Amino acid sequence: MEIFIDSADLAEIKRWLDQGVIDGVTTNPSIMLKDRVFNLKKGAQTIASLVEPRPVSVEVTTNSLDEMMAQAREFAGWSPNIVVKIPVINQDGVPCFGVVRALTSEGIRVNATVALSLGHVMLAAKSGATYISIFTGRVADEGGDAPRLVKLAVWWLENWRYKSKIIVGSIREVINIQEAALAGAHVITIPPQFLAKMTDHKYSRETVRQFVDDAKKALEKMDKMAEPVMVGRT
Ligand code: E4P
Repeated sequence: MEIFIDSADLAEIKRWLDQGVIDGVTTNPSIMLKDRVFNLKKGAQTIASLVEPRPVSVEVTTNSLDEMMAQAREFAGWSPNIVVKIPVINQDGVPCFGVVRALTSEGIRVNATVALSLGHVMLAAKSGATYISIFTGRVADEGGDAPRLVKLAVWWLENWRYKSKIIVGSIREVINIQEAALAGAHVITIPPQFLAKMTDHKYSRETVRQFVDDAKKALEKMDKMAEPVMVGRT
C-alpha cells in the first residue's frame, strides 16, 4: 500500500518526504487555494521536482470537457511525474470518461477523481484511468458505507484484472486511514495534520523518556565502576 500526502504545502511535503513515508502527492484547486499556490504551473512544478519520480496529481480547473483536454496536455508537459486529475463527471453531470480515455491513449496518466460510487469506479477503470480517487469522507457525509465501497472497488478491479489503483481521499479522522488500509486501498492520500496525528502518542513519548532516563542512570553507574587504570589514559 502506498501513502500520498494530500497537500500543496511544501514544508509539509518535505517534512514527510524526509521521514521516508511518502510515495506521492495529491492536490486539487481547493488545496492549492488553502496552501496559497496561486501560480499553478510554478506550484505544480516545484512540488513535482521536490518529490520526483513520485507522482503528483494536479487537477484541471474547468467545467468544459474540451478545456479539460487542453489543460491536461499542458499540465502533463510540465513534468514527467505529473498525473492529471479529471473528475468522473463535470458540474452538470456530463461524464468525463471520454476525456480519461483520450488522455490515456496519448500516454498521459489520469487520476479519475471525485468517485463516490462503485459505478464511478467501474466506468473510470474501463476508460483507462491510472488512479481512481474515492472520496470516502464525502461518501460517509451522505450516510454511505465508505470502507465497504473501497473493499468492493478493490475486489472488482482485481477480479477483472483492471490495472487502475484506488486512492482513498477525503480523510476526516485517523480511523478512516485504518479503515481504508484494512479495506485493501492501494493508496491512501493523507492531509499532513492526520500524518502528525497518527504519529504522535503520549505513551510512546513517556516510554522513550523512561528509556533515556534509565540509560543516563546506567551510564552514571558505569562511570563510577570504571577501573582506576582507565583514569588519565591517553
Ligand atoms: C484527494 O485526492 C482529494 O484531494 C481530497 O482528499 C479531497 O478531500 P475533501 O473531501 O476533504 O475535499
